[in-house]
Amino acid sequence: MENVFIMEHPLIQHKISMLRKKETGTNEFRKLIEEIAILMGFEALRDLPLEDVAVETPIEKCMTPMIAGKKLAVVPVLRAGLGMVNGITTLVPSAKIGHIGLYRDPVTHEPHEYYCKLPDPIEQRLIVVVDPMLATGGSAVSAVDFIKQHGGKSIKCMFIIAAPEGLKRLHETHPDVQIYVGHLDRGLNENAYICPGLGDAGDRIFGTK
Ligand code: PRP
Ligand code: URA
Repeated sequence: MENVFIMEHPLIQHKISMLRKKETGTNEFRKLIEEIAILMGFEALRDLPLEDVAVETPIEKCMTPMIAGKKLAVVPVLRAGLGMVNGITTLVPSAKIGHIGLYRDPVTHEPHEYYCKLPDPIEQRLIVVVDPMLATGGSAVSAVDFIKQHGGKSIKCMFIIAAPEGLKRLHETHPDVQIYVGHLDRGLNENAYICPGLGDAGDRIFGTK
């Protein structure tokens, strides 16, 4: 699928397996989420444009490549996406941060918006949406809808675990968006949880429930 990138790096796979374990406690879970965000961010940002700039080393003057062009905005989908923000800002400390608050209705599984604050203007920025889980795809589709309504044009989404159902829905609704997935799981259960998944990402990051 064009614009869909499934990660294969062994470090990402190993850390996702550690996340899945039900014995993994909040502290370790948060650390792993952040480390995986760094590793996935490294992959997702490999097409950032470069430009040669003049630099003087202790030896001589030279032209040397630095990141050019678009500035970055990282947009976590609350709550669980917050766990991935530090991973991206470790790579790009100057990134602006937007927030989109969505929760899934436990019965209908439809997303409900409760907050949206994005960097303004956003048109010229590369926007990286982060959320550990892509299940039915309802939250991700809504998040990208909001960003496009605010003028966002260049959008990448990063998910640590995705279900095929959500990946298909997001890709079909927003085929221009580049989607990065740490691991593609088997599918959804009757409660729209990802199987085998890792349970409720927000609750595991924040120690709720
Ligand atoms: C989780 C997850 C995604 C969403 C995925 O958030 O972090 O945002 O569910 O499900 P979907 O693809 O079916 O929409 P949740 O709504 O549980 O909120 P939380 O992060 O506050 O726990
Ligand atoms: N949200 C989660 O946190 N986990 C799932 O498996 C599905 C949605």
